Amino acid sequence: MAGYAVVGTQWGDEGKGKIVDLLGMDMDMVVRFQGGNNAGHTVVINGNKIVLHLLPSGILNPNADCIIGPGVVVNPFVLFQEMEELSKHDYPVNHIHIADRAHILMPYHVRIDELQEATKDPGMRIGTTKNGIGPCYCDKYSRIGLRMCDLKYADIFAAKLKEILPMKNREIVDLYGGEPFDYDDLLNRFMNIRERLLPMLVDATDIINNALDAGKNVLFEGAQANMLDINYGTYPYVTSSSPTAGGALTGAGVAPQKLNTIIGIAKAYSTRVGEGPFVTELNNEMGEDMRKRGAEYGATTGRPRRVGWLDLPVVRQAVRINGLTDLAVTKIDILSGYDEIPVCTGYQLKDGSVIDYVPACLRDLEEAKPVYRMLAGWKEDISGVKSWEDLPENCRAYVRFIEEYCHTQVSLVSVNPDRSGSILLHKLVK
Ligand code: GDP
Ligand code: IMO
Ligand code: MG
Repeated sequence: MAGYAVVGTQWGDEGKGKIVDLLGMDMDMVVRFQGGNNAGHTVVINGNKIVLHLLPSGILNPNADCIIGPGVVVNPFVLFQEMEELSKHDYPVNHIHIADRAHILMPYHVRIDELQEATKDPGMRIGTTKNGIGPCYCDKYSRIGLRMCDLKYADIFAAKLKEILPMKNREIVDLYGGEPFDYDDLLNRFMNIRERLLPMLVDATDIINNALDAGKNVLFEGAQANMLDINYGTYPYVTSSSPTAGGALTGAGVAPQKLNTIIGIAKAYSTRVGEGPFVTELNNEMGEDMRKRGAEYGATTGRPRRVGWLDLPVVRQAVRINGLTDLAVTKIDILSGYDEIPVCTGYQLKDGSVIDYVPACLRDLEEAKPVYRMLAGWKEDISGVKSWEDLPENCRAYVRFIEEYCHTQVSLVSVNPDRSGSILLHKLVK
């Protein structure tokens, strides 16, 4: 039995998709356990780029079952679009299964997300992906959500929608002055896709646990990241789920001892999309240059990502919360060319004290000044390097510094976006 998890250690977009695709080749099953189509996971194979939003990145291995787990919020219309896109590129999609317990992300969730963002004071905006994620999880926890299994009996779905829709329409019209949804129209849209969806529904927890018990390799693919976690991120500038190893347990329905290897993906510098504090942010020409070099534009919304130096207290928080067994450092090729590279090892608060953990209070974080350790840079283009020994000495020292600070081994270093651009330091799949 081997359970693997891949999670983001920063603010998302660390390169999880690339690493999941790579490990996915050795997996029997790949499972998404939280979030929805707010994710944007890029996989590059022989120069061809594929961006996945809702489907696990392991989809590109035709031999691995792909599961959209119970903790995911699923927009079925987006799901079908994504499947069609993959089919167009000749990737098989008949190995996708959806948890019958997963909540349905409804068109009204998308509208409410858009309206909430549009009507908030600019200072209060979260900068969501406007895909309805927060409103859908809200309904789930308010116990007025619709689940995939509600589609099994058309009359149950219709009756529930009849009860819920007026509440949602009141919210849309009275609170935000938006356009309400027509019940018959919305019901029809779902009745039209019901026959196509039903064969894809499974008791995901049963088949995931059966696979683990049968000694198969199962990979749990996190979307978003630790600093966007609803409990431990920079609340309220977070997403509405738990993108952590703990989230994998509750979101897929597996026990803690089933996760053997928990891999945290850390970009060699930091990026963030959307609002919220970012201590090492480079709001200057240097940042603009780094954004261009790293092609840091959102895979889901196309927004320019905010960029900054590596923030190690952030990565170490992810190590602790997730119990990371391994780190994978990505995009280190983007750091070539600097004389010196600052790495944040702590925060100096307004009262002068220095801490090395992420404080809860946003004002503390907003006012904090980064404490930097200057590491020596390297000039060589490393995007074609194939082995650890061939990386420049200072680049290796940069990786070793991350290991020492985080007390966690770096098992993989990624030097270009392609599936082939990964240098393995320690075996990840046993
Ligand atoms: P995810 O959300 O964590 O899966 O990451 P994204 O796909 O949103 O963003 C990561 C971006 O970096 C994608 O465009 C990847 O193709 C690219 N990428 C991944 N690893 C590397 C790397 O080692 N070097 C470079 N230059 N690009 C990379
Ligand atoms: P991947 O899986 C980066 C951010 C949004 C916003 C906040 C809340 O590609 O790493 P939401 O739509 O979830 O309610 O938005 O979270 N966000 C991400 N940022 N990568 C992601 O996913 C993200 N998913 C959500 O920009 O700040
Ligand atoms: Mg992304």
